[in-house]
Amino acid sequence: MKTIEWLEDRVRFIDQTKLPLEETYRETDLYTVIGDAIRSLSIRGAPLIGVAAAYGVALAALRSRQTDVQSFHDEIECAITGLASTRPTAVNLFRALERMKVVLYSNGSIDEVRQLLIQEATRIHMEDAEMCLRIGEHGAELLPDRARILTHCNTGALATGGEGTALSIITTAHRQGNSIMVYASETRPLLQGARLTTWELMNAGIPVTLITDNTAAFLMQQKKIDCVIVGADRIARNGDAANKVGTYMHAVTAKHHGIPLYVAAPSSSIDSTLEEGGKIPIEERNGSEVTEGFGRRIAPVGVDVYAPAFDVTPARLISAIITEKGIHRHPFDFR
Ligand code: MRU
Repeated sequence: MKTIEWLEDRVRFIDQTKLPLEETYRETDLYTVIGDAIRSLSIRGAPLIGVAAAYGVALAALRSRQTDVQSFHDEIECAITGLASTRPTAVNLFRALERMKVVLYSNGSIDEVRQLLIQEATRIHMEDAEMCLRIGEHGAELLPDRARILTHCNTGALATGGEGTALSIITTAHRQGNSIMVYASETRPLLQGARLTTWELMNAGIPVTLITDNTAAFLMQQKKIDCVIVGADRIARNGDAANKVGTYMHAVTAKHHGIPLYVAAPSSSIDSTLEEGGKIPIEERNGSEVTEGFGRRIAPVGVDVYAPAFDVTPARLISAIITEKGIHRHPFDFR
């Protein structure tokens, strides 16, 4: 399974909204299709959004019919602005687009810059795959033998350009012969845990048990969880970490039970311009994802809904942050 792939002049990606019932791949040469796919969560997960947006810029450059440099720059800037407006929380998106913008202003003909943009997008993808491997290696060291791990949302190959972040730690430990087992919380309302994490872990032959989000505290009380590992969409300088809504709930509960909670993310998820997590922009999703997700209405028509996609876990609830550079412990200071 290749979550996303550059094919000469177009992008191929798996439509995650169809999983696990259908493994459907889509191909496009339009950056707007990439933008819509990110907005609708066909393409999702912080690192993957960055990779996809970079490919989107490359597509825009390839399709452009402009012949003078100024108009070419204007057209690609417009594509960058459109891609940047898709989702606000994952900083990887903005990081990748900034890199593409720097390359856009390289010296050279339009054709040369096009090639440089394709190369840069591919480099962002490859670098992410490499960071995932390193995160897996560093994080696997933290796991006790036969660890029972709780994870939230989806942080695997579907969410990144490589093996994943939190899930890379899990797959690495499994490969090393640690007989781990995983509890995947379903992750309301879009069920990334139930649909995607279980699918990935079952395909990898890793024992996984699905729980509803509100079962986690009971499992911890029964001493059935050794650690919690999650990803992050944006980490502030002090270590506060935004991740899928519900992460904070798991962090509070883990702290209460004396269970370590680890955050795994590439350094492209760190936003050192923000001193603390209160400044991280939190996306709000359409209430219909709660009242009638997957086409089935479960709440009265007209009910008010509050649907943040993410929450912020304060650094004091995080035992360690694992990046490709190693294991970071308190006090966090990401500059
Ligand atoms: O809304 P999503 O599915 O894009 O949210 C994804 C998450 O919250 C992941 O945990 C996060 O991006 C880390 S993925 C490696």
